[in-house]
Amino acid sequence: MKSHFQGKSFLKESDFNQTELETLIDLAAHFKYLKKQNIPHPYLQGKNIALLFEKTSTRTRSSFTIAANDLGAHAEFLGQHDIQFGKKESLEDTAKVFGRLYDAIEYRGFSQNTVEKLAEFSGVPVWNGLTDDWHPTQMLADFLTIKEHFGNFKGLTLAYLGDGRNNVANSLLVTGAILGVNINIVSPTDLQPTNDIQSIANDRALKSGAKLLITDNIQKGVEGVDVLYTDVWASMGEESSFEERIKLLLPYQINQQIVDMTKNNNTIVLHDLPAFHDLNTTMSQEIYNQFGITEMEITDEVFNANYAHQFDQAENRLHTIKAVMAATLGHLFIL
Ligand code: CP
Repeated sequence: MKSHFQGKSFLKESDFNQTELETLIDLAAHFKYLKKQNIPHPYLQGKNIALLFEKTSTRTRSSFTIAANDLGAHAEFLGQHDIQFGKKESLEDTAKVFGRLYDAIEYRGFSQNTVEKLAEFSGVPVWNGLTDDWHPTQMLADFLTIKEHFGNFKGLTLAYLGDGRNNVANSLLVTGAILGVNINIVSPTDLQPTNDIQSIANDRALKSGAKLLITDNIQKGVEGVDVLYTDVWASMGEESSFEERIKLLLPYQINQQIVDMTKNNNTIVLHDLPAFHDLNTTMSQEIYNQFGITEMEITDEVFNANYAHQFDQAENRLHTIKAVMAATLGHLFIL
């Protein structure tokens, strides 16, 4: 018997329904339990997996590699300058070669079209490790973290503050809409989700009952929410935009004042990482030298508070990515 997920790619959240996303989140919780109990789970024994990265990564690369090891597969890292892809060999030809050599492909890069074409021409499951449009594996980790903390998704509201047009904001809006979690995107009008993204989310919210709010009004956007979420103000490849983004987004920084504005003592804070919360990186030092600020999207105080759960999210990247890999490439009898 073939499971519903077998052979399927994981390219964007809107390819899946509420039951399917919940199944992957619950499977991830099961894998987390197995790992903590040292119970082997080699569902991908003998499989070979290509990890194609056009952008840098700490969590996603490590999670795919460790998940492959835990599942008994071998992962081969292929960085931007390691292979012929793009320079001497087309996307279509590369995908066809990969489809002959590998059992599955992970891709992190710029264009959503690239990951879609890799899936089309390779014929093997392709997993989106982040594109400019979507960050679907991040979503499974984020909503697993929320479920672990609150027990279920019923009646929860998440407010995202920051650049409301980036991949994480797009993915949160659509994933919340699918799962029935209310989502507030709290961003300046110039940085709010596109009509296309809002339309996908509104369509899914009609089915799940999630309430969606796009606003530049911080008070309205954060009052009563259960989860405050933020992300870097300039995504990979947008570093030249920092001056403009700092001007626009400083009022949307998650600091203690914003946490207090929720008027909810049980609010948690999430961040997909990496975060600009101190001066302990070369880039944050450069930004400090140029613009004189020591923190950006989240203050160090909030980052280190006991209600901030960004490292639970980071750990959950492993378990959720493992769930996607095993469900789509293994022979599990789920759904
Ligand atoms: N959150 C995230 O995608 O982290 P990396 O860029 O380190 O993979």
